Amino acid sequence: MKSYVLVGASGRALGMYARPLVKDFSDCAKVAGIFDVNPLRAETLKKEAGLDCKIYTDFDQMMTEQKPDSAIVTTVDRFHHEYIIKCLEAGAEVITEKPMTIDSEKCNAILEAEARTGKKVIVTFNYRFAPYVTAVKQAIADGLIGDVLNVDFEYMLDTSHGADYFRRWHRKKENSGGLLVHKSTHHFDLINWWIMEEPVEVMGYGTRRFYGPTRKERGERCLTCNYKNTCEFYFNIDASDMNHKMYHNCESADGYFRDRCVFADEINIEDSMSVNVKYSKGTLLSYSLIAHSPYEGYKASISGTNGRLEIAEYHSGIRTSDSCYYFNLYNRKGQKIEYSIPKATGGHGGGDVKLRNMIFRGGIPDPLGHQAGSFAGAISILIGISANKSIAEGKNIKVNDLVDLAKYRK
Ligand SMILES: NC(=O)c1ccc[n+]([C@@H]2O[C@H](COP(=O)([O-])OP(=O)(O)OC[C@H]3O[C@@H](n4cnc5c(N)ncnc54)[C@H](O)[C@@H]3O)[C@@H](O)[C@H]2O)c1
Repeated sequence: MKSYVLVGASGRALGMYARPLVKDFSDCAKVAGIFDVNPLRAETLKKEAGLDCKIYTDFDQMMTEQKPDSAIVTTVDRFHHEYIIKCLEAGAEVITEKPMTIDSEKCNAILEAEARTGKKVIVTFNYRFAPYVTAVKQAIADGLIGDVLNVDFEYMLDTSHGADYFRRWHRKKENSGGLLVHKSTHHFDLINWWIMEEPVEVMGYGTRRFYGPTRKERGERCLTCNYKNTCEFYFNIDASDMNHKMYHNCESADGYFRDRCVFADEINIEDSMSVNVKYSKGTLLSYSLIAHSPYEGYKASISGTNGRLEIAEYHSGIRTSDSCYYFNLYNRKGQKIEYSIPKATGGHGGGDVKLRNMIFRGGIPDPLGHQAGSFAGAISILIGISANKSIAEGKNIKVNDLVDLAKYRK
């Protein structure tokens, strides 16, 4: 029986880890403690998941008392590094949510601590485990397009999901690294994993012209807003039982409002971003992310010496009733071959369940290398971190100037 502690009583901690650990893994995993700076939320999580463990607002005390085998880091991104490093130093392995961290100093510190302590960091890139992106990985690994030469990847967040990043802590770059780190870490990880190359040089652009102080009709938060009856971004914090319990009911302890106005002055992350990347074997990537699309999903093409894959997933707005996702292979004989991959049920395209089984059950063959460690965690965020630096400084950034990847490559 392995013992785990939860570091951060977040929504993600409840849905992805606490509940499934109780329901599906009680034969092999035990949650020994929950840590959060907000004890009300930690209590709520404990109750909602049906856990029987102690709650802590003192992290060091939890580690000393519980001596867990492993810690699951599910807190605000800006604090990931603190807990990852302390856990490694306490002799625990770490399972951390993405993004591994938000800037290059913290990234270096994590990689150094892992190398020094010999304990392992797993980064939970659940998207890799979705059947569709796995099929794309398999197609490239099977050589269907030959050597990869170029990738185009366009991600659209809709105004429901996308707006949510502008309501909460994510909306400040110092908390989340902005969407190029917080969100794009998923996409950059997929691309890095698909093509098996490392980013070398990055140029980024970013603007914010949709959210932020773009209209006069706004308030501090939706709950008390004068425009709640007319604003299309009105978010009823009590509409979902879970948001009511986990956030509204817990505000008195920390003032964390889950429904802040998406038109606030303090928002400092971008809502439109464009990034170019040069990779280690010469592949070029053009990437874009918008957070204000009428529909959600992505379109991408991967071109190689023998052909080209055109791929797309739609998560809202269009084609959501399709029972499959599709990709097309165009080869150099002039043929187009369509592949259909049935949609899986469960969180993140079926990825969450598979990831949990691999982490908590173990012993599952991993021929395509789905399970990711700190190096993959690093190279995925380093594209976004470099892009942030490029946006700030107006020049292209060499990834190796931020982190000496050769030191940590496994
Ligand atoms: N893999 C995925 O698809 C996925 C999906 C959602 C969230 N996530 C990740 O999960 C993590 C949690 O996100 P969420 O939206 O569920 O968060 P959340 O807003 O629900 O919760 C964040 C928690 O962190 C706590 N906290 C704040 N400051 C803290 C500190 N200094 N020390 C400890 N705890 C502190 C808050 O009290 C809160 O309980 C993030 O890293 C996010 O990127 C991943």
